[in-house]
Amino acid sequence: MSLLIGVPREVFPGEKRVATVPDVVEKLIKHGFRVAVEAGAGDAAQIADDAYRAAGAEIVSDRAQLWATSDIVFKVRGPDSGEVALLREGGMLVSFIWPAQNPDLLQALAARGCAAIHVSSGGVSPQQKIPVGPGYQVPFAQRVKAEVGLPTIAVGLITDPAQAEAIVANGEADAVSLARAMLYDPRWPWHAAAKLGARVDAPHQYWRSQPREFKDLFENAQFGAR
Ligand SMILES: Cc1cc2nc3c(=O)[nH]c(=O)nc-3n(C[C@H](O)[C@H](O)[C@H](O)COP(=O)(O)O)c2cc1C
Repeated sequence: MSLLIGVPREVFPGEKRVATVPDVVEKLIKHGFRVAVEAGAGDAAQIADDAYRAAGAEIVSDRAQLWATSDIVFKVRGPDSGEVALLREGGMLVSFIWPAQNPDLLQALAARGCAAIHVSSGGVSPQQKIPVGPGYQVPFAQRVKAEVGLPTIAVGLITDPAQAEAIVANGEADAVSLARAMLYDPRWPWHAAAKLGARVDAPHQYWRSQPREFKDLFENAQFGAR
């Protein structure tokens, strides 16, 4: 069953943005997701329900139903208290949060049973001068973990297995997540496991690729006679 992405109407007064546009809906559906958009979600951005419908989205009028059935909710603004209450168990929310300005929101998410928060910053203008370097966003995750106690997932130029291991081992974050390094090298987890002496569960079609120097890398691998 494919995952359902839900796009609610923004409730903050004067907010005109919507988290997803029809072009993106089409792409998400091509990637195997289903998309539900709350009726009128695009009105303030001049995007009609019919445009979402034409892109393949289902239009949902019942707001509570949208939140209750979506596996992943896409929002622009962080959730208000009413929306926090609508968050579904096991669901995922992708939105701005601004944790330093919204400590109460983080506490509310923690109280609601939020399992983990993924802390990334968003540069939206070339005029922002964000100092970018290895692990540049890890301190944000560290601060959220220290101040709110929510399990955190750190990101931001984590590219080296030892670096990733140290972030978790030192307690800076509870987990790490990689985007660019994974786009560059989709086998990053295998290579990291090999370097760190860990094991991975590889599909059997790949067992023959196990390098001779990493004889224990693939769990459950069995080789027949050559
Ligand atoms: C396709 C793509 C687009 C991105 N666009 C932005 C962006 O507009 N502004 C920004 O600050 N970071 C951007 N990032 C960087 C993300 O903030 C970063 O990928 C995320 O925090 C994970 O870190 P990592 O890619 O270094 O592993 C982008 C990353 C990717 C993969």
